[in-house]
Amino acid sequence: MSKKIVLLPGDGIGAEVIYAAKEVLEAISQKYHKVFEFSSYDIGGIAIDNHATPLPDETVEACKSADAVLLGAVGGPKWDNNPSDLRPERGLLGIRKALDLYANLRPVKGFKNLLHASPLKEEIIQGSDLLIVRELTGGLYFGRPSERLDDGNAVVDTLAYTRKEMERIIDKAFQSAELRNNHLTSVDKANVLESSKLWREIVEEKKAEYPNVTVDHVLVDAAAMKLITNPTQFDVIVTENMFGDILSDEASVLTGSLGMLPSASLAEDGVGLYEPAHGSAPDIAGKGIANPIAMILSAAMMLRYSFDMNEEAQAIEDAVEKVLNQNYHTADLKNDNNGKLVNTTEMTQLIVDAIQ
Ligand code: NAD
Ligand code: IPM
Ligand code: MN
Repeated sequence: MSKKIVLLPGDGIGAEVIYAAKEVLEAISQKYHKVFEFSSYDIGGIAIDNHATPLPDETVEACKSADAVLLGAVGGPKWDNNPSDLRPERGLLGIRKALDLYANLRPVKGFKNLLHASPLKEEIIQGSDLLIVRELTGGLYFGRPSERLDDGNAVVDTLAYTRKEMERIIDKAFQSAELRNNHLTSVDKANVLESSKLWREIVEEKKAEYPNVTVDHVLVDAAAMKLITNPTQFDVIVTENMFGDILSDEASVLTGSLGMLPSASLAEDGVGLYEPAHGSAPDIAGKGIANPIAMILSAAMMLRYSFDMNEEAQAIEDAVEKVLNQNYHTADLKNDNNGKLVNTTEMTQLIVDAIQ
């Protein structure tokens, strides 16, 4: 049966890396006789330019009736001074909310041949393999009020969660830990924030339901430090929206580049959206040098989580590993050891060839 995949290229390198993921999926389609039907819709800055809104209704409708969604990235300097409701990022937050994508899974696993690409010492990152489970539809990003007060001389943002919103992401994290190495680190700021106190209480309550999982609580500031000094202590990290945003970019340093980090944004029941953790990278957009691997690995996550195509997903991951082992790298990945520098299309073609 054919699978309907909606592509949301977005802005900057988003469009460059979406093309790469599509090429790779076409190679999978040929090799494994799968039928993927692609359609493309505007989101972010390009949607503002074409439809005067960062999230056109037709984009939302198309996503809702798709089997899965792939998103590149949104944003760029052209729209940075727009009013808040006409910013590209609003489109991304809007589609996450519209599809109720509360669970953002960001796996951070270093490839062996990229150990030297990280500025961190090899002996520190060796063996690190963790999963950040980031809450994606609550917290500071969505709480209201969020506005200027007092003629612009004061401001308020709101960090709001319901118990139910916390419970479902914490459950997802426990379940993820059961599928991995049975250890969960809950990251919060319970020494200051009321929201974190409730979060910690819920984690403690839920422990009884997952007796095989060991749990610890780490304050977010210390967690930031531990991630880069002793990352192998982590298996699954669960945290609220903004902490997860910040910690996942930090964790990408373990893999050598932000351009390596894929993610899956999942609903309780409904269509999943797959997006690299990185943004539209205006500093390199249009140059054809973006690393497509985060996007390609996000497509592999789509095959695994939305379509149950485990063998096909593994084929993509193996192809990426093979190409990296041959010492090919994009410009964002440091390689002093006779590396072969390639651009986005060359990297994509190498991965396609490795699949075939
Ligand atoms: P960014 O992730 O776009 O870039 C940060 C740095 O990492 C840049 O130097 C960039 O060149 C590099 N980088 C990122 N992805 C790369 C890749 N695949 N290959 C090679 N290098 C890569 O973050 P930023 O510069 O802070 O933000 C730029 C814009 O992107 C902003 O408008 C921001 O709001 C938006 N953004 C969007 C998303 C998303 O759509 N999911 C995520 C993050 C940022
Ligand atoms: C991400 C991005 C987004 C976020 C922005 C662009 C709204 O940084 O997906 O990590 O903060 O969630
Ligand atoms: Mn981010």
